[in-house]
Amino acid sequence: TKAGFPHFMIKEIFEQPKSIEETLNRRVHNGIIDFSDVLSDDEINKFDMIHIVACGTAYHAGLQGQYALREISRINSLVEIASEYRYMNPFVNENTLAIFVSQSGETLDTLAALKEAKSRGAKTLAITNVVGSTISREAHNTIYTMAGPEIAVASTKAYTTQVTIFQLLAIYLAEKKGKLTKEKVEKLVSSLYSIPEKIKTTLDNTEIIKNVANFMKDKHNGFYIGRGVDFATALEGSLKMKEITYIHTEAFPAGELKHGSIALIEPGTPVVVIGMQSNLLEKTISNIKELKARGAHIITVARKSCEEAIDVSDEFIGVEDIEDVFSVLLAIIPLQLLSYFTSVDKGIDVDKPRNLAKSVTVE
Ligand code: M6R
Repeated sequence: TKAGFPHFMIKEIFEQPKSIEETLNRRVHNGIIDFSDVLSDDEINKFDMIHIVACGTAYHAGLQGQYALREISRINSLVEIASEYRYMNPFVNENTLAIFVSQSGETLDTLAALKEAKSRGAKTLAITNVVGSTISREAHNTIYTMAGPEIAVASTKAYTTQVTIFQLLAIYLAEKKGKLTKEKVEKLVSSLYSIPEKIKTTLDNTEIIKNVANFMKDKHNGFYIGRGVDFATALEGSLKMKEITYIHTEAFPAGELKHGSIALIEPGTPVVVIGMQSNLLEKTISNIKELKARGAHIITVARKSCEEAIDVSDEFIGVEDIEDVFSVLLAIIPLQLLSYFTSVDKGIDVDKPRNLAKSVTVE
């Protein structure tokens, strides 16, 4: 049931504090992260490469995973779209850890990619939300997200729990590989535990987002930009907008727009900017200025306290403060809400947008 909410999607957006907490609780005991049931120390010592393979929103979670693995654990990884991976003759062998991300555990391309990696000797791990799903049965081991059933076609809580798993896994592997002190691990874990409360602050305050949605509903196109891992968040925000509002949006690394696509900016073109990476903020602000000079309507998601961003934005959506690498879990919430409210304003069937099914079991 929708538990009093008008749609499954908004119910699922609001369930995220709980589903993230449950996903953490499933893997953290007395402050210690444990993945030993799915990955032995021998396996951890053996792999020299991680492949992350998925489709759609799960692919975006994979991009977040790659960033966390690089930043926190200094482990090299490759992220690929499953329908490409399966036909690309990938460099995969017994020294590869291959991770397949799928909410449903039934996506055909992801399953086929898994079989491909497995046949070439990789250790395969699934991250899925559905116990006993085909992908979970095919993989050597499975990490379950604790999102509970996700009904809306647009994935929300599955995504944030997948990202949570990657953050935990990155910390776990970093610790195993001697790249983080015990104190640092404790600090990161407690920071992850602060996320549910910090998400609630955004959920309790949706007025600004509703106003932005009201502006978005009459637009036919727009952009999402961000630097570093904020680009992955931009991709996910943009997909959510396309899927349930039918507004054509595109995501770009903030510095890339000027290499062609800025030609599409006209007075009033909405540009959603994600500005959560502290070391890149100044650069993002100068991109905002370039866009404003061409008439773009700037909607920024950044830390509440980010005066520089407030000054240059037409609309500003502030989120709580946290380490840059975890901030992606806070920044995506307003983007989910923005697409939801825009869809409702347009009178679209939010939970079942046209041309889409919840799980894609055809090629
Ligand atoms: O069940 P899966 O995670 O394998 O599904 C993958 C994609 O089809 C899915 O994430 C799709 O992109 C969503 N509708 C996005 O909201």
